[in-house]
Amino acid sequence: MSTSSCHLVLHPDPVLRAKAEPVEVFDEGLKTLAEEMIRVRKEHAGIGLAAPQVGHSIRMFVCNTEEEGEEDRIFVNPEILETSGDLEWAEEGCLSLPEIHGSVRRPSFVRIRAQDLDGNTFELESDDLHARVWLHENDHLDGVMILDRMRPLDRLASRRAVKHLESIYQSGG
Ligand code: NI
Repeated sequence: MSTSSCHLVLHPDPVLRAKAEPVEVFDEGLKTLAEEMIRVRKEHAGIGLAAPQVGHSIRMFVCNTEEEGEEDRIFVNPEILETSGDLEWAEEGCLSLPEIHGSVRRPSFVRIRAQDLDGNTFELESDDLHARVWLHENDHLDGVMILDRMRPLDRLASRRAVKHLESIYQSGG
């Protein structure tokens, strides 16, 4: 797996709309890719990043809400086990949609299972910002973006910025 040129992939690159493949091999290449994803996340001041956003269509994401002392956590082959609680609206952005924000409605409680970089399974639950980030990043692994989920008014308001990204993409970046 070549990761030497890891960089952020923007809408409308088709890799963002693909269903990502499960990770089957937990090797050094996977660890290197995870490190690169953490680097890209930090560089762009995001709180989460999914592998398709650096051009790798595999089921892995990283989350760090940047609370004090928090370290990046890698989720490989994540599964949402349970969502519950109130559906809450909150403003979200996405590193693959620069300058675009919108209100997205998500359940407030999430229980998730995933593997770490050694293939060990773990489970976590959250009723704070982590829950929202996990759902946002997990969406990326199924080719779903906030454009599909945001409040219609916000989608309308972001139309010009989306068109701009699309024209940049069509002209070759
Ligand atoms: Ni995103």
